[in-house]
Amino acid sequence: MDLSVDLNGLKLKNPITVASGTFGFAREYSEFIDLNDLGAISVKGLTLKPRIGNDAPRVAETPMGMLNCVGLQNPGVYKFIEEELPFLKEYDTKIIANINGNTIEEYEEITEIISNTEVDSIELNISCPNVKCGGMAFGTDPLMVSEVVRKVRNKTKKHLIVKLSPNVKNITEIALAAEIAGADCISMINTISGMKIDIKTMKPLLGNISGGLSGPAVKPVAVKMIYDTYKMIKIPILGMGGISSEKDVIEFILAGAKAVAIGTANFTNPYITKEILENLKKYLQENNLTSLNSIWGKAHY
Ligand SMILES: Cc1cc2nc3c(=O)[nH]c(=O)nc-3n(C[C@H](O)[C@H](O)[C@H](O)COP(=O)(O)O)c2cc1C
Repeated sequence: MDLSVDLNGLKLKNPITVASGTFGFAREYSEFIDLNDLGAISVKGLTLKPRIGNDAPRVAETPMGMLNCVGLQNPGVYKFIEEELPFLKEYDTKIIANINGNTIEEYEEITEIISNTEVDSIELNISCPNVKCGGMAFGTDPLMVSEVVRKVRNKTKKHLIVKLSPNVKNITEIALAAEIAGADCISMINTISGMKIDIKTMKPLLGNISGGLSGPAVKPVAVKMIYDTYKMIKIPILGMGGISSEKDVIEFILAGAKAVAIGTANFTNPYITKEILENLKKYLQENNLTSLNSIWGKAHY
């Protein structure tokens, strides 16, 4: 049975990866699962300088999901390279560095730094607010997307994934802008903007007032956005958003994702990736399918 997938130059042994910010730097999960079994690991979002993140509370439960406003807490790119990357490189899995900047120059700088390491791919998170544009997220305007992706592309020969925010009017035109500017692959979706109000205090519950919704509640939105984007672009899609079973994975592949990432589901079940992989193999066997690639995008025909 062939589970391997090629994300336009990034070759994964299987299509199961983990989503940035939900798997830390993988140390915690290495106690539960064999990291060698994963197709790839996308690490916690990295910034140039360390970040302490937003005020607490940073997470809230919602029906069928969660809200978070972690605010990109991370030790910074240099500490990642020094302390986390050597541990990750002990495993036979691809390492995706999720990167974030406040300005285009910051994206360029962090790209140059991370390109000189052994990471296998760079995932550009363009949901970050652009400080020079009054906080408007990079990923909400096709022109801004073109500019940041083109400039980052010029700084690296590494495999480049552009991660899209669903908080936009038309995600397909953002995907197209990223493809034309030189992205090798699109990952989608990031969290959906949301909030919760505490009815006792009568105030917003999260320290940051609003946050990003993830988990099963966002799955139908992700499936639709992937379905629409698949028709518009030629580069592959790494799909995510509420996946918590092999059935969800199959739905994403049918919609047009070539590989998938498991995010929030890791919090409720740290064994989830292993279980999904095993069940996926069973599904293929039971349905006499030799590969997942054979059902890729099938919902379109
Ligand atoms: C606590 C938390 C932190 C996250 N941090 C990041 C991040 O640093 N960079 C990023 O690109 N996405 C981040 N995400 C978004 C996830 O990678 C993923 O795109 C999203 O949660 C949808 O997938 P899911 O519903 O399976 O969790 C974060 C999500 C959660 C829940």
